[in-house]
Order: sequence, then structure tokens, then C-alpha cells
Amino acid sequence: MSVDWRQRCATAELAGMRPGAEVLVAGWVHRHRHHGGLVFFDLRDRSGLVQVVVHPENPHFALAAALHPEWVVQVRGELHQRDQARVNPKIATGQVEIVPSELTVLAEAAPLPISPADEGEVEESLRLRHRYLDLRRPQMQRNLELRHQALQVARRHLAEQGFWEVQTPSLSRSTPEGARDFLVPSRLAKGRFYALPQSPQLYKQLLMVAGVERYFQVVHCFRDEDLRADRQLEFVQIDIEQSFVDRDDIIRLGESLALTLAREVAGWQLEEPIPRLTYREAMEAYGTDHPDLRFGMPIMNLTPEALAGTVPFLAEAARQGERVAALASPRPLSRKEIDALSLAAGVDLGSLSLAEGKAGGSLGRFFDGPLAQSWGAGEGVLLVAHGPGDVFLEKMGALRLRLGREAGLIPSGAHQFVWITDFPLLEWNGEDSRWQAVHHPFTAPLDEDLERIEESPGDVRSKQYDLVLDGFEVAGGSIRIHQRPLQERIFAQIGLSKEEAQEKFQFLLEAFRYGAPPHGGIAFGFDRLVMLMAGMTTIREVIAFPLLSSGADPLTGAPSQVTAAQLAELGLVVELADPLPRPPVS
Ligand code: AMO
Repeated sequence: MSVDWRQRCATAELAGMRPGAEVLVAGWVHRHRHHGGLVFFDLRDRSGLVQVVVHPENPHFALAAALHPEWVVQVRGELHQRDQARVNPKIATGQVEIVPSELTVLAEAAPLPISPADEGEVEESLRLRHRYLDLRRPQMQRNLELRHQALQVARRHLAEQGFWEVQTPSLSRSTPEGARDFLVPSRLAKGRFYALPQSPQLYKQLLMVAGVERYFQVVHCFRDEDLRADRQLEFVQIDIEQSFVDRDDIIRLGESLALTLAREVAGWQLEEPIPRLTYREAMEAYGTDHPDLRFGMPIMNLTPEALAGTVPFLAEAARQGERVAALASPRPLSRKEIDALSLAAGVDLGSLSLAEGKAGGSLGRFFDGPLAQSWGAGEGVLLVAHGPGDVFLEKMGALRLRLGREAGLIPSGAHQFVWITDFPLLEWNGEDSRWQAVHHPFTAPLDEDLERIEESPGDVRSKQYDLVLDGFEVAGGSIRIHQRPLQERIFAQIGLSKEEAQEKFQFLLEAFRYGAPPHGGIAFGFDRLVMLMAGMTTIREVIAFPLLSSGADPLTGAPSQVTAAQLAELGLVVELADPLPRPPVS
């Protein structure tokens, strides 16, 4: 029997309809049960659930009783008000149910490896192996919808401000974002390779030379690096570039996009303007360039002056140029807990218990009460350690995060953006014994630091900015160098000879000869932003078909072997752990 699908309504619409209405719905059998001689099943579609109730005298009773979870069915019937006892406040259509006059099975389903109705934990490789079932789960449908909404809001917001969405190629040359490239062998030019873009960085700069002025793109980026909860080999950026701007213009633009998304998609009303910290301030107080500012507990740096006359070995460490720092744990910690924290943090933690109003732990004999009180540990414990440089601060930063989380200092529902600015331009690469760009080599130095590029490259700050949300870097960008002499000075500092620079970036440098406007931009890590707005803890939950952290896709079996014939066509010789299937003998 053919159906006019235009009559079909979404289950969510039923909540607003009057009982007595005749409705047609279709979807999957979510839960199915016999109760008190009746058959009940929840029919699920993208918009939600509705209960169908079938009485024994109903001509469709036998079929209804034989349904199984995830069969696809179509139900025509009358909408009834539920008995008071059967009202389900947990679902939008919980006041009503359908009494079917027609019930049709559109497709049966084999026994399920995972159940969309099951809210318990399921092993991730199994979820990804059957992602199409996993995505049927209401939570995953909500994640997909939220991602869709975020995309629409971002596109609208940028288009309204005159940005053009321009698409750039995926088969291209390597871009200098600092990760390993994914290479694609060329069949037409054997022995040559395209690189999949780590970002469209160079193209967007070329678009500025091309006079586009305001560009954006929702773009897939590829980086061959280790996967983590917030990292995939393939991810999506909202990439932006603008001409005739300075740092504050891009920060304002990024801020308006971030806050619009937060408000319209996540429903968060957040502080405006977003606070800013310099890289140095973030490192000193939080031991990281992506601090979680939903709670305080900053690292207290103890100067030789503060330590004078208190703890000889700490004062000495400080005099020797080491960092001495304290963290105030808000809750008391046992010696055993402190030892475990020391081990996890990789620092030797001394402690001072303030709870009993007297000094305790290994530092006890050095501290007197008033000094410790002035550091503000309150009821808890002051943890003190020393070590060299930023590496030590990073360890204390990780410890802060752990203590804050364990003590429940992060208020539920709280969210906090922060801009990090004034990053160092260059960092020392000990392995290769050379300076390298912290962001990428096209990032401009701060005007006031231009003089220092040659004498003290490590002290030069850049016009880079990152946007951090709840401890995750969700966007990063910079004002670019658009003048050749300065670009050449930077290349020289990072050990790129003129010839090498020509070889790698010839097309960009050449373009810059023909009138490059001042420009800058930013790229949002879209998956990370959506993950946080959806309240998830990994970006895999907001990507329709992600990879496992091993880089494997259990659904399609990628990465997979290819045939010897394919390799030969590309002029490639590959040494394989397992032999390739031989081409069939004809
Ligand atoms: P950057 O390298 O900082 O800048 O990347 C921008 C943002 O992309 C996200 N991101 C990732 N998300 C998921 N998986 C990954 N492997 C991954 N790597 C990065 C982060 C990051 O903040 N071309 C420059 C931007 C510019 O200068 O305009 C760039 O790509 O959220």
C-alpha cells in the first residue's frame, strides 16, 4: 500500500496536537513491552519518541506483539490523552499516545550488536564499528543537531559581516603548521606527492593578496599527530582571514563569533569582553597557555625576597635561578595523598598543613603560621616545590588542574573563555639546534620587539592570539607579516636560507611582491568548540564518523591495504608486514 509521506508528522509535533487527531508517524521501534495484556512500544524518529498502545481487540495486536527493537514501522492512528498514571514527564509527548488503526512494518532488523535504547556504557570500538546504530541514540542525535546549528550560526554570523566563503584545495603542498603531513602520491607525476592541508593558511593569505578582504571557510584539516580526546587526524576548522586589520580587530571578530555561538547554540550568557592574559601571565599563574579559569587557585611564585629568612634550601633554589612555587589545596591532604600527587606531578612536594593552625609536613619546621596564612591556604594545605623554568611551571599547572577537579572547584554549568596574547615568536628546538616558529613563520612580531629579532630571538613576542574555553584551546591566529624584508629576517632566524625559503614558499613570497595588504586571521577548532557546547568530553562524540585513538576506523576498516596493481600505478614500492593480496591471475 503506497503512503503519502507528506502526511507524516514528526513525533515532536504530536505534543502540540489535540487528542482525537488522526496522525501518521514512522520511525524505529525504540522499546517494546507487554504490560497488563496490552502491547506498548515507543516509536522513535529524529525528533523524539511517542508511545503506541495496542489493545488485544485491535486487529494489529498480533503484529504489534511480534515487533522487535529497531524494526522500522509506520503507524497511522488516533492521538489519545494518556491515563494520568501513564503520563511520562520525561518525554515531550509524554501526555499522549497513539492507538493505531494501521501498523505496517517497513523493514525488519537483525539482532542488534548495540542497542540505541541502551543508555549504559558501550565499548568505543564497538560503537564506532556500528556507528550508524550508535548515532541513532538520542544523545548522539542531539550532538549532530547541535553541530548543525553551530555551523549555520557561524556561517550566518560571518556572512552578515561581509565574509565570503571561499573553498581552497585539499590536494596541495605542505603547509607549515608543525605537524606531520598526510601525503598523497601523484599518479601523473610519479615520485611526487600532494600534501593534504594541515590548514588552508597559505591559500587564505593568497586570497588576501587577491583582494578578497574577508574570507572564511568551514574546512577539513589533516595532521598526522598522536590522537587524543581533543585531537583527530582529520578535523574541521572555521578558518577566517581579513585584510586591513590589527590584532584587536581579529580578537573582536573572534570574540563576537564565539559569544554568539555560546549564546545561540549552547544558551550560555558569558562575560563580555572576554578577559585576556598574556602568555607569560598564563604560564606564571596557571602553568599552561590554555588555562581553565572556571576556578582560581593560581600558582604562587615565591621570589627569593619572599623566601628570605624562611626556608634555606628553597631560598637557595630561587637564588640559583630555579622557580619556587606554591599551590593552596583547599582541602586537607594526607601524607600518602601528597606522595601520590608528587609522583603524578613529577615534582617533590613539600607541604604545610594549615588546618590545625600549625606547621606540618616536611616544610613544617621552616614556616611559621602567619607567613603561611598570608599565602591563603585557608583550611587546606600549602604545597611547595621547586624546579627549573617553564617545565616546572607546567608540572605545577597540571597539579593545579588535578587538585581543582578533585576538590570539586569547577562549578557545574560554569564556562569561561580567555584570550592568550603575546606568545613568544620563536622557540628553541634542542633536537635540531635551531630556532623555530611557535605558531608559523608568517606570524608578525610585536612592533616593539622588532629590534630584538637578531640579538635575543627568544625574547621576541608575537601578534599571535589563542582563544581558550574551559581549559581547551578552541581557536588560534595571528597578524601576518606582509612585507618581504621582515619575512626574510624571520626566515633567516629559523635557519631557512633564501634558497630554501624560495623552494618552500616561492608562490607566497612572489605573491607578496605584487601588493599584499596588511592582514591577519584566526581559525576555530570547530570540533572542540562543539564538544564543549554539547557538554562532551571527547571530540569523537560530536564527529559523525571519527577515528579511534589508534587512528583506525572500525567501521570501514581504514586504513586498509591496497593492491599491488594500485601501488605499481603510483610508482610506489611498499614494505609490508602482511603480504598484499595478489592480483587475480587472468
Ligand atoms: P592552529 O594550528 O592553532 O592554527 O589550529 C586552529 C585550531 O584548530 C584546532 N585543532 C585541532 N582540533 C582537532 N584535532 C586536531 N588535531 C587539531 N589541531 C588543531 C584547535 C586550534 O586552536 N592556520 C592557523 C590559524 C591561523 O593562524 O589563522 C592554524 O591552523 O582548536
